[in-house]
Amino acid sequence: MRRRLAAGNWKMNGGLASLGEIDALAAAHPAPRSEVVICPPATLLVPARDRARGTPLRLGGQDCHAEPAGAHTGDISAAMLKEAGAAYVILGHSERRGDHGETGELVRAKATAAQAEGLTAIVCVGEQLSEREAANTLDIIGGQMSASIPDGSTGHNLVVAYEPVWAIGTGRTPTPDQIGEVHDFMRARLERRFGAGVGRSVRLLYGGSVRAGNAETIFAVSNVDGALVGGASLTAAEFAPIVSALEAAAG
Ligand code: PGA
Repeated sequence: MRRRLAAGNWKMNGGLASLGEIDALAAAHPAPRSEVVICPPATLLVPARDRARGTPLRLGGQDCHAEPAGAHTGDISAAMLKEAGAAYVILGHSERRGDHGETGELVRAKATAAQAEGLTAIVCVGEQLSEREAANTLDIIGGQMSASIPDGSTGHNLVVAYEPVWAIGTGRTPTPDQIGEVHDFMRARLERRFGAGVGRSVRLLYGGSVRAGNAETIFAVSNVDGALVGGASLTAAEFAPIVSALEAAAG
């Protein structure tokens, strides 16, 4: 059985004053069956770790470098994220692929480094609107998965997030059928590449404009094991109901 997962991606938002959201989220869900992860800006990981101590909440980074250390000004290694309290790291988010020109090969190198440190890589894939309109969605997703996912992946060290670029931060979401088509396709590809056992154990998240109002519908789609949530993860008031919807789906 795959343990469901709700991951909040704060992106470049929040400060020390936001840490109260962690307390409120933990108070709303003191013992969830699902896994609940917050990925704050790296500067907040250590205080967030201290805040989350004694709660089931887990933490993640939003990116890491492929090298363990060295002359890479401005970058953060997987080991540094781990030391700061992260158990997860988001890699290959479309904002990294777009804003920083990250290729699938680079994402794979980063994910390999993260897994070597014992972190779980949340590898993001997703098509542009023009690619969906040209009926290329599955080709794009398949290509990104092949390029970005490391060979040594397992259900413990890999999560894949399907995030259509046109759905991120826009309030637009694919239909349940469209999400299901992609998630079933991703499951089949993982089973073909890693074998049925590993392929079935990797959790698949949907991301892109997930809100309390659409979470129940999205979580009912086959092969959706949870969500990667941006804007609606910034406050416990918005994120806790999404976790509740996931808990209900898990039941
Ligand atoms: P959003 O972002 O929920 O604000 O659309 C999702 C993401 O980019 O992970």
